[in-house]
Amino acid sequence: MRSMMKALACLLALALVIRLFHAQDSPQDYLSAQNTARAAVGVAPMTWNTTVATYAQNYLNQHIGDCKMVHSGGPYGGEPGMGQC
Ligand SMILES: *[C@@H]1O[C@H](CO)[C@@H](O)[C@H](O)[C@H]1NC(C)=O
Repeated sequence: MRSMMKALACLLALALVIRLFHAQDSPQDYLSAQNTARAAVGVAPMTWNTTVATYAQNYLNQHIGDCKMVHSGGPYGGEPGMGQC
């Protein structure tokens, strides 16, 4: 069960990265889908934070070609990308 949650979290993170690269929907569309999935596993809903979103977007843009999608070391404690080549 724990590894399933981890796999689901990875899928959600991947979905976030894909959405950032192909941002055709509004943040609210993304959030609704995300929160539906979170509710299904009993996790509290998220709200959109443009400060963090912009930071993540800039981070991804900087590393789009170098495969260094590891921890950003930034102030928001997250990992905008999860790939490591
Ligand atoms: C967005 O995130 C930043 C950094 O964590 C925080 O300082 C700010 O208050 C947040 N803004 C909103 C609207 O939640």
